[in-house]
Amino acid sequence: MTQHTFDQFLFVGLPYVCLVIFFLMTIYRYRTQSFSYSSLSSQFLENKQHFWAVVPFHYGVLIVTAGHLLAFLVPRSILIWNTHPLRMFILEVSALAFGFLTLLGMIGLIVRRLGNPKVRAVTVLSDWVLFALLLIQVVLGVSIAVFHPWGAGWFSASLAPYLWSVFLLRPDPTYVAAMPWLVKLHVILAFVIVGYFPFTRLVHVLVIPNPYLWRKTQVVRWYSRR
Ligand code: HEM
Repeated sequence: MTQHTFDQFLFVGLPYVCLVIFFLMTIYRYRTQSFSYSSLSSQFLENKQHFWAVVPFHYGVLIVTAGHLLAFLVPRSILIWNTHPLRMFILEVSALAFGFLTLLGMIGLIVRRLGNPKVRAVTVLSDWVLFALLLIQVVLGVSIAVFHPWGAGWFSASLAPYLWSVFLLRPDPTYVAAMPWLVKLHVILAFVIVGYFPFTRLVHVLVIPNPYLWRKTQVVRWYSRR
């Protein structure tokens, strides 16, 4: 297999297969198993480690994901922001800090699920596969930030055009083919996670319970020993 064919497979074929699976299966699962559209909380089984894992993980992953989305949607604004070295430095350091926060949270999630027998009992194979994929993805992300710094710049300049080329159905893998292998793996795994998304508890991302922000607080009372 030539390098060209290999790139076509990894950065054109695979992304489209994953995106098609994502769209078809999220809709199919929503229509056939809407009650399973949840993060399947395990907070009632164990709450302390839960707090110290789930909260940092979500702060980290939401901010890091928002950063990726911004560089994809408004790459020019990011490049303009970066024209000032201090602003570029602030962006770089913040992104790395939230990357580490995600990583710590992710390790906490896995340690909790392995260490607590009740939580382990409700953890299924798809959870373990998901946690492994997310852990590898976060490790890759943090490694890229450490070994290939100033990502906000090169992402906006080279990866955003590749991603747009995929979404506009004019795929051009040349942008990504010249990237270091850590970056390529991060891109490939991102599409794999998107394809795996509808089969996991990640579907909760699509059904955010927004009314929680303004509904009245709810008191839960235990009538027996916990
Ligand atoms: C869109 C905003 C999001 C909201 C409101 C949200 C909310 C939640 C909630 C309420 C839980 C259940 C925690 C529990 O009680 O056990 C949860 C779990 C989880 N979330 Fe999110 N989430 C969001 C985004 C994300 C994103 C972007 C990811 C990763 C890409 C993610 C990954 C996870 C994972 C892996 C769990 C399972 C943790 C565990 O139980 O071990 N979430 N989320």
